[in-house]
Amino acid sequence: MRDALILGIETSCDETSAAVTRGGSEVLSNVIDSQIAVHRVYGGVVPEVASRSHIEKISAVTGVALECAGVSLADISAVAVSAGPGLVGALLTGLGFAKGLAFAARKPLIGVHHIEAHICANYIATPGFEPPFVALVVSGGHTSLVDVRGYREYAVIGSTRDDAAGEAFDKAARALGLPYPGGVEMDRLARSGDPKAIPFPRGLTGDGLDFSFSGLKSAVLNYINQSRMLGRAIVPADVAASFTDAVAGVLIEKAERALRRTGAQRFALAGGVAANSFLRSAVYDMAARLGVDVSIPGAELCTDNAAMVAARAYYDYAEGRRHPLSLNARPSIAVGGEFV
Ligand code: KG4
Ligand code: ZN
Repeated sequence: MRDALILGIETSCDETSAAVTRGGSEVLSNVIDSQIAVHRVYGGVVPEVASRSHIEKISAVTGVALECAGVSLADISAVAVSAGPGLVGALLTGLGFAKGLAFAARKPLIGVHHIEAHICANYIATPGFEPPFVALVVSGGHTSLVDVRGYREYAVIGSTRDDAAGEAFDKAARALGLPYPGGVEMDRLARSGDPKAIPFPRGLTGDGLDFSFSGLKSAVLNYINQSRMLGRAIVPADVAASFTDAVAGVLIEKAERALRRTGAQRFALAGGVAANSFLRSAVYDMAARLGVDVSIPGAELCTDNAAMVAARAYYDYAEGRRHPLSLNARPSIAVGGEFV
């Protein structure tokens, strides 16, 4: 079972990716074709453009993934694919392609939850890391605290009531005139700024585990507009650093509370925003303070990628779980939900 070769396919948003893993954690190849340049001219992801780009790229990307892994389709044990959540058209392109491969090569098909896959990137990144643990998933579309009780057991214990953390980063960046996707640009800019320069609000600091980032986003827009009206100089690096400090501060506060409530001794970060350098060091500081083990994937495993999809699928494969070729996309499926 541990030698099972899983072919992963990921097309839920704006990365076309295919990967081959052995077992749940050994990556033989992980090819990622980013559409960032295609969407940058529009200032954000255009769903139909994303679907069309996946259609054009997925076959070649998968061919390269198999070649880099040194295996053929016949060697593959199962085909895994992100089936939700995500953009419906984008999901359907990967799903249709994966089904075609599974049907033609007579391989089992396994539909994967994209957010659970982000969490499973940690099994690849940190050998020996295992449930139970608390995961903080911070991406462009999601911000959730997840109680991971087993390889297939996920319970959301906190989530955003409005914007996702990545969305807030991208909107604040846009207000500063930075190119899309803004998160990585904000990270770079914040390094030369003062995190205490502007006292931006921290949403929902009560004793719950939910997040709210829309007030912070509005505060950044108001600060920029008022500065312009008053003729006050805007220091973009200070805005970026103060914004990041507010986001990271509230994420860490809730993460710490989640660890205390669950009694978990391990913590994992996941999703695109997990690439943020300030958040990463804040998580390491928190883990040292609380004496918990921590896992944070490297940048390539934080962004959307197919290795994490194959990693998540492995645990279904190992239990003999398969999906029928009638598997459909579920753009809004909850963490812990079943596909069929
Ligand atoms: O997980 P992901 O690649 O796609 C989704 O499933 O949403 O996350 C993308 C998000 C974007 O909002 C992007 O701006 C943000 O992650 N991001 C960052 C950084 N790198 C990517 N946000 C803050 N700092 C970064 N270094
Ligand atoms: Zn994602």
